[in-house]
Amino acid sequence: MRMYADKEIADEDLRYILEAGRMAPSASNRQPWKFVVIREKENLEKVYELYHRAWFRTAPLVILVLADHSVSWKRPEDGKDHAVVDASIAIDHLTLAAAEKGIGSCWICNFYVEKTVEFFGLPGHLEPVAFLSLGYPKDKADMQREKIRKDLSEIVFYEKLNL
Ligand SMILES: Cc1cc2nc3c(=O)[nH]c(=O)nc-3n(C[C@H](O)[C@H](O)[C@H](O)COP(=O)(O)O)c2cc1C
Repeated sequence: MRMYADKEIADEDLRYILEAGRMAPSASNRQPWKFVVIREKENLEKVYELYHRAWFRTAPLVILVLADHSVSWKRPEDGKDHAVVDASIAIDHLTLAAAEKGIGSCWICNFYVEKTVEFFGLPGHLEPVAFLSLGYPKDKADMQREKIRKDLSEIVFYEKLNL
């Protein structure tokens, strides 16, 4: 959702959303994520500069989700680091819990990475994965917008991959 009402997120709703993120599953249960909640006007103003869009400025609260490469599980066979996989699952939990509370959200990955690292003083092992904007909808119909998705027949295969 990309247009929010001028209304702060209730503390109990925020708590519910964060709790859902905390409960996300992760590889080897390493929980390699950190959630930075930004809701003070002065800090929000700086965060809006990290992703220049007029609609983003309407978000009353933003969560920066970080993947912690220092604790994430690495697959023994090929060393694949699952930090971003796990952090992404946590983000999805945040979005779904928000929707349950009537709060819209938008993943944002197209942010200025270097400026973000600098602004938050991120150490090398903490990767910024996404900003998540959150807010009650300005227009309630926005929560039920039609989803444009591929047909199941294009993405599901039975028994073997038939491309
Ligand atoms: C990993 C990821 C990164 C995204 N980055 C952005 C972004 O930087 N800016 C933006 O406006 N939307 C972003 N989105 C939102 C997608 O554009 C959106 O989920 C997709 O177009 C489907 O729209 P719908 O979920 O409203 O149907 C991102 C979504 C995901 C999952």
